[in-house]
Amino acid sequence: MTTAPQVDLTLSPRMTDPDWWRQAAVYQIYPRSFADSNGDGIGDLKGITAKVPYLQALGINAVWLSPFYPSALADGGYDVDDYRNVDPKLGTLADFDEMTAALHAAGIKLIADIVPNHSSDRHEWFKEALAAPKGSAARERYIFRDGKGENGELPPADWTSVFGGPAWERTTDADGTPGQWYMHIFAKEQPDLNWDNPEVREDFLKTLKFWSDRGVDGFRIDVAHALTKDLSEPLPSTAELGVEGQLLDGSHPFWDRDEVHGIYAEWRRLFNQYTPPRTAVAEAWVHASRRARYASPEGLGQAFNFDLLQADFDADAFRSIITKNLAEAEATGASSTWVFSNHDVVRHATRYGLPKALELAEATPTVAAPGADANSEEAKGQDGKAWLLAGGKPSDVDAELGLRRARAATALLLALPGSAYLYNGEELGLQEVGEIPESERQDPAFFRNPGVDIGRDGCRVPLPWTADGSSYGFGSDGAHLPQPEWFAGYAASAQDGVDGSTLEFYRSALALRTELQGAETLQWLPSAADVLHFTRPGGWHSVTNFGTTAVELPAGKVVLASAPLVDGKLPADTTAWLV
Ligand code: BGC
Repeated sequence: MTTAPQVDLTLSPRMTDPDWWRQAAVYQIYPRSFADSNGDGIGDLKGITAKVPYLQALGINAVWLSPFYPSALADGGYDVDDYRNVDPKLGTLADFDEMTAALHAAGIKLIADIVPNHSSDRHEWFKEALAAPKGSAARERYIFRDGKGENGELPPADWTSVFGGPAWERTTDADGTPGQWYMHIFAKEQPDLNWDNPEVREDFLKTLKFWSDRGVDGFRIDVAHALTKDLSEPLPSTAELGVEGQLLDGSHPFWDRDEVHGIYAEWRRLFNQYTPPRTAVAEAWVHASRRARYASPEGLGQAFNFDLLQADFDADAFRSIITKNLAEAEATGASSTWVFSNHDVVRHATRYGLPKALELAEATPTVAAPGADANSEEAKGQDGKAWLLAGGKPSDVDAELGLRRARAATALLLALPGSAYLYNGEELGLQEVGEIPESERQDPAFFRNPGVDIGRDGCRVPLPWTADGSSYGFGSDGAHLPQPEWFAGYAASAQDGVDGSTLEFYRSALALRTELQGAETLQWLPSAADVLHFTRPGGWHSVTNFGTTAVELPAGKVVLASAPLVDGKLPADTTAWLV
């Protein structure tokens, strides 16, 4: 057992500021695809530690680390075998401590991903539950039910899992006969935990304490809106549940129930015992009107808003989303969260360059984002999966336009009050990888939905660090998902120090953001149609041209432009910052 090192949080005032998270630039690392230090094709913690200078030079304030726990990777690590350990494929607890210390020494906070709705089917508890008889305490940690039908051969309800296929799986008893069923909202390797059981609640408090004591500064809560469930009999059928509007009143049997906030109030009490208090951000795909409860100071404190991620590149859409979310954040005391890309969606440099016929508004995905109600308002935004499913390749996409718009959108996002969540690889302008052969795909969403969902592997391909060499500098011996040849052109080494490269653009934008960031307010200024112009306290202006022709810039000194100005004007699909 390694003991946690004493972390010196007096290193910089930002590290001890209890409000550090309110306007932080948070960089999401998908650890298996970031940097591989030992040549096994899988990214690891030592790989991250080695890249701390890169992260520091990028200018981010925090790293959000996707799951790094022991896992069979049935769902990319969101199937956790042991919540208080590190996957041996990724390293050891000592490596974790070393990484945390290196990040802290560089002034970077660490946010860990917590997956409380389900464990993996290899978790000790689940193994015990399968071996234990019906009605036992071991089974009470999960959701076991008898099947319906004469011999229990039918699932307790006809619910569909988020990844497709049934949400219930039948077990086999010790004597080889078919047994009870267990519930899994996601893959069958991800049995749902029973949050009515105090033992489950206690154990998660222990986990949160374990990582907080080790120096973790905050937590991202996976499917935060699914934990509490009303499974009283008779269970409603999918048809009875209806779909539309279920997320509005907290009455769905497992999505967004009001009782879930009791859990987060308890977590908040624990978080507040630390100095500075541990932070948390909810991944909750709920109706916008219900998001505030997750973000309340008595709860998790912040909740993701995925509205911009789901919007078209459109001035009116952006303006109304920003206005609405800032008002919401102000009302709860939280700060807003902004995000364009993460490990679950098609990269935004690709979404914005989809062929016209498949543009976001038309390309209706058949599968909603994980945890989302497929017909909810939140799920109606598009993520380009339909394009991928149709065999989309970068050559089908206008990658240049996509990247140009992505840079403009990112500059706008980084000028907004609140936290900015960035996804590893977007600072390289990376495109989604469409051309992954079926035999090499890993995502359960792909396998459980044949022909319907292409899955999320395309945004999880290991990063290109160098333009040549094995796995483009990701490691010394291959990558766990195939990297296309065009990755060479996006390599970090090819962009480092290159004027106008996307990497240098991100570095400049993040450095300026730190310098210019003031109070969390924004004021819209009059602008031409298709142009968004706002100002922040201290005279920082951001202007984005969503239209097709160049526009005049307001008075001021241009300190950043997402693309070169043309004759002093702001061209189409470009953002400029002025002071
Ligand atoms: C994560 C997904 C994951 C799912 C189940 C989420 O919303 O972001 O990557 O598949 O939860 O844990």
